[in-house]
Amino acid sequence: MKILAIETSCDDTGVAIVENGHRVLVNLVASQEKLHATFGGVVPEVASREHLKAVFPLIDLALQKAKSTPKKIDAIAVTVGPGLLGSLLVGVNAAKVLGYLWGKPVVPVNHLMGHIYAGFINRPKVGLPVLALVVSGGHSELVLIKKQGEYKYLGGTRDDAAGEAFDKVARLLGLGYPGGPAVAAEAAKLQITNDKLQMLRRRGIVLPRPMLGEDNLDFSFSGLKTAVAIVVANSKLHPPAGGPNDNQVRAEIAHEFQSAVVDVLVGKLFRAVIQYQPKTIVLGGGVVANRELRKRVEELAGKHNWRLAIPDFQYCTDNAAMVGAAAWHIGISKNSQWYNVNVIS
Ligand code: KG4
Ligand code: ZN
Repeated sequence: MKILAIETSCDDTGVAIVENGHRVLVNLVASQEKLHATFGGVVPEVASREHLKAVFPLIDLALQKAKSTPKKIDAIAVTVGPGLLGSLLVGVNAAKVLGYLWGKPVVPVNHLMGHIYAGFINRPKVGLPVLALVVSGGHSELVLIKKQGEYKYLGGTRDDAAGEAFDKVARLLGLGYPGGPAVAAEAAKLQITNDKLQMLRRRGIVLPRPMLGEDNLDFSFSGLKTAVAIVVANSKLHPPAGGPNDNQVRAEIAHEFQSAVVDVLVGKLFRAVIQYQPKTIVLGGGVVANRELRKRVEELAGKHNWRLAIPDFQYCTDNAAMVGAAAWHIGISKNSQWYNVNVIS
């Protein structure tokens, strides 16, 4: 079964064709990153207008690249939320128009389910129950999939998402947008040794690990952001300052911030694994593109014999292949009773 999938929940227009929920025939993303970078963040009105320009040419290109035709497509999947309303409407209406013209069912997909099922791409046999950690710009959540179609929310952020914290900290440090890759690149400049760690502590660059010690599966990242703001103010690093030690201090703060986020995510994931004993652990969402997070989870998995499904980098940040994968798995669990999309949830 071939699904043509559309993703327009934020600032990336994604179109993909996915076979049987695992095999990606084509995965195209028209990024608006450069456009929004000039504003330091996503401007919703600009995003929806760009989706409008990109979506149909991208669908044409996807069919061409996959050497496919509308006849060979069995269903159309589309992200229906959560996301920016104007952006979502572009994708949903494109899907509904094509569904009507081509006579194909349209499958609504929740964006977070997309991030989870990104871990199923190129993996036809992911053992259930799955414990999923979704960390993106808008979400930081732990979800248990007992059976396809049966989900249990285990915990999540009580305020900001991890990706949002990365983006805000990047701004505090005078780094570019999107913040996640910029902070990670800055942190990587610091070759951390024990001596350096001591130096950091002497300077007082020690950030909290919010809620790490608490006996629950929730997160909180807004206080961490404030803690960075205080450290920045105390370090007199007011970008773009350009003083002799600024680059060093900036890298130290980025490193400590990234470590704090990763410590908390990995700590809570570990707690959830002990509690729910899943067969497979799936990571998803833009923050999973973070190499430090991947490395730390992989180390734990090696030590405790966990089965891991971490998506390739291209399937971590927003893309349509994950939407096609989710639609297939969710559809199959409903005995292929495809249904038409009418609402935005
Ligand atoms: O999943 P995604 O593309 O969009 C949402 O659904 O939100 O995630 C985007 C988020 C942004 O906050 C971005 O800064 C973060 O993922 N991100 C990263 C990295 N790459 C992207 N965060 C940390 N390290 C990265 N390498
Ligand atoms: Zn996303």
